[in-house]
Amino acid sequence: MDRIWIKGGRPLQGAIQISGAKNAALPLMAAAILSEEPLTLRNMPDLQDIRTMVALLERLGLPTTVEEDEAHGRLMRLDGATIADTCAPYDLVRKMRASILVLGPLLAREGNAAVSLPGGCAIGTRPVDLHLMGLETLGAEIALQEGYIHATAPKGLIGAEVVFPKISVGATENLMMAASLARGTTRLVNAAREPEIVDLGRCLQAMGAKIEGLGKDTLEIEGVPRLHAADHAVVADRIETGTYAMAAAITGGELELLGGRIDDMQAAADILERGGLSLTASNRGLVARRANERLVGTDVMTAPFPGFPTDLQAQYMALMTTAGGAAMITETIFENRFMHVPELIRMSADITVHTASALVRGRERLTGAQVMATDLRASISLLLAALAAEGETTINRVYHLDRGYEKVEAKLAACGAEIRRLSGNG
Ligand code: EPZ
Repeated sequence: MDRIWIKGGRPLQGAIQISGAKNAALPLMAAAILSEEPLTLRNMPDLQDIRTMVALLERLGLPTTVEEDEAHGRLMRLDGATIADTCAPYDLVRKMRASILVLGPLLAREGNAAVSLPGGCAIGTRPVDLHLMGLETLGAEIALQEGYIHATAPKGLIGAEVVFPKISVGATENLMMAASLARGTTRLVNAAREPEIVDLGRCLQAMGAKIEGLGKDTLEIEGVPRLHAADHAVVADRIETGTYAMAAAITGGELELLGGRIDDMQAAADILERGGLSLTASNRGLVARRANERLVGTDVMTAPFPGFPTDLQAQYMALMTTAGGAAMITETIFENRFMHVPELIRMSADITVHTASALVRGRERLTGAQVMATDLRASISLLLAALAAEGETTINRVYHLDRGYEKVEAKLAACGAEIRRLSGNG
């Protein structure tokens, strides 16, 4: 397994191109199932998870082609003319939980689907009960057998009101896509409002879906008989933007984040600025650097959008390890998203965890060490810490990193980081 070696202490200087958002691209790819006509997606990121979703869609009968396009970034064409299979098998779903996002579209398009239950993952049990509740409310019959979700809607899906007892990004996306082809109108109440959901909604509208309320917590979707071709550019990745903004601050450097947008991450930007970051819009995106000599310990609690994103929590914890003062970091979305803590402690961080809260007491500096990546965002948190630490760090099991960060070592090396990928056993 690959490892990444870093020698810390170099302030980052330069510009980083922000890629299309992974968590927008994945549901957008699943949306291709909804139409017999081709879907063109631009500004697509080049990530392991995207390749896994391509493999799944091709298994279902949707050939995809990819071409590099200077002006619009990577371009992917997905051809949903024929659905050859409605089974999403365990060997693919276990690699990427977001495979569950083909359930709603398959049910809406073909009237049946067999999707392996995605297992849990390092950060939590990750149930899908809200997805299933919503689809049953639209008239689907669902049975769980031998680890698979068997869903049928022989008479098609019927529009209805779905009230989510808990905000779920994936369940909102599955239901938006299923409702687009249901007979009648669907209301999604207590829907998630992440920018990636707005992006999916805009693409579905471009395909002919009738969706009202994008960006709000109640969505109204009037089903249509079919959807048509569309050409859609994936929104910039706000999590990547926040991650590299923190990389600039933790190393005492300055980075211009090309394509980065503050309006998709206002709550995070407010917290980061209170924590001592300076974020200013430029005509190419966003410029990030440390505002003063030292960062400032600032408490944060993760929350669904528009709150502070759980996907930035691990990175923020790394940032706070060398801040002046203490920071209380509370994780409210996932039950086990502190796996980066013991690894940061190996790098001399002072962190105490009490159930869902971690108290970070700022230290003068971190020290390099051998550390282990456990999940996507934990691994990038260790990379941020290593960039600032005194000495050398080796991060093991960086396949986690490759799932969500495009060409991370190349982007950072181009800004002055001493960073190398070591292939082989880690
Ligand atoms: C999406 O996951 C993202 N993944 C996650 O990003 C992100 O952390 C999460 O939203 C929250 O923003 C993709 O978009 C591919 P949820 P998702 O359904 O949809 C519980 C990353 O690092 N829940 O909003 O799975 C669930 O256990 C990944 O890029 C149920 O109880 O998240 C969690 O506690 C990690 N029942 C909470 O809701 C359900 O049916 C939020 O989950 C579904 C979810």
